[in-house]
Amino acid sequence: LLGTMRFNDKRHLEIGGCDTVELAKKYGTPLYVIDEALFRQNCQNYYRSFTEEYGTEVIYASKTLSNLAICTIVEQEGLGLDVVSGGELFTAAKARFPMERVYFHGNNKSPDELRLALDYKVGRIVVDNLYELELLNAIAGEKDTKASIILRLSPGVEAHTHEYIKTGQIDSKFGLAIENGMAMSAVMRSLELSNILLKGIHCHIGSQIFELASYAHAAEVMMNFVQKIFQETGYLAEELNLGGGLGIYYSEGDYPRSVKEYADILMSAVRAKAAEFDIPAPKVIVEPGRSISGPSGTTLYRIGAIKDIPGIRKYVSVDGGMSDNPRPALYKSKYEACLANRVNEEPIEQVSIAGKCCESGDMLIWDIKLPVITTGDILAISCTGAYNYSMSMNYNRLPRPAMVLVCEGKADLIVKREDYADIIRNDVMPQRLCNSRI
Ligand code: LLP
Repeated sequence: LLGTMRFNDKRHLEIGGCDTVELAKKYGTPLYVIDEALFRQNCQNYYRSFTEEYGTEVIYASKTLSNLAICTIVEQEGLGLDVVSGGELFTAAKARFPMERVYFHGNNKSPDELRLALDYKVGRIVVDNLYELELLNAIAGEKDTKASIILRLSPGVEAHTHEYIKTGQIDSKFGLAIENGMAMSAVMRSLELSNILLKGIHCHIGSQIFELASYAHAAEVMMNFVQKIFQETGYLAEELNLGGGLGIYYSEGDYPRSVKEYADILMSAVRAKAAEFDIPAPKVIVEPGRSISGPSGTTLYRIGAIKDIPGIRKYVSVDGGMSDNPRPALYKSKYEACLANRVNEEPIEQVSIAGKCCESGDMLIWDIKLPVITTGDILAISCTGAYNYSMSMNYNRLPRPAMVLVCEGKADLIVKREDYADIIRNDVMPQRLCNSRI
């Protein structure tokens, strides 16, 4: 749980050299705290294990956590960026992210999003389906340009924590299945279209994966397909993007693998296949998100209502919930937490942490042992850097939390807390309401 976190002489949790109790006081709660050194270290780990070791390009999946400061850090660390919407693309552009290092994903990019991507000259558009291929070709034609693309394929490898199975993947909203021939038709069509420049193929087998054999298997299936394309069309894919997905530690039972192991397993699978087929190994690209941003984030909450239902359960409510972290409600995700203002006290009481949204499913943690809690304590939930802020919402018209970046004892606000004015910012009161019946 504690990672680079420590506690100071006041027995307060410290992140990046900052006292989290002070952070909570100064910036309010809920508060997303991003450990800049850890975020950078996670980027560097990828850079070292993939780029330096194998020449692999590493693309940070900005869907996990994106804002101007984060995009800038990713750029400084030498990684590229995976964006999946006009909004993520716009954020990257405003952060002056070099567009040639941006990959644009998505299963239903709108014509406007595709135009924006071409105007920004993004490095690659990851084409998901045949409709998009034709649409992009037409839009690129209007702009008298060629769109550099890779095709998102579905390799028929489904990843699970402890096994991999090879089924079902034809039935997915993402990508073109290899198995039923859709992938090959898309390759052929891409090669025909005059405003499309096919650079390679892509797959992504899932997220929060611990079983590295699934990756090796996907890499092999994709390399087999590279060879099949070569034999059938004479086209040799230059790029092979193998997606993201490396799992991280959230709670007991999670056994993350190291980035180095991941790199070695992926790259040896690709290289072995290239040698077997006697073809040059394509340039490999990976798109990690969670394993970079996830561990670097902690959310601070203030504890409010405490309700002990004798013999049943003690509900401890915090001032946020599914609105800032929808993952427990959506996926039954498990998290660990500690009391930031009394870090080293014995955990002796079993409680459940409730969010404040009007929904029984808004429980952040079921059954966790903590020191005896009182109202006003600060609860820190760890590993909330990925898919928390990025999936946050205004349910119940709750303003979204602020985010601070901490490093070497300094804290900087990188996302402002929303206020009630933000809540009604886009509301429009019509001139006339249809109340004629009253
Ligand atoms: N590349 C592609 C094409 C993806 O679809 C994803 C994640 C990634 C890369 C990054 O994967 P990562 O390294 O973060 O596992 N909201 C869910 C996770 C959705 C995953 C979406 N795709 C959650 O909170 O667990």
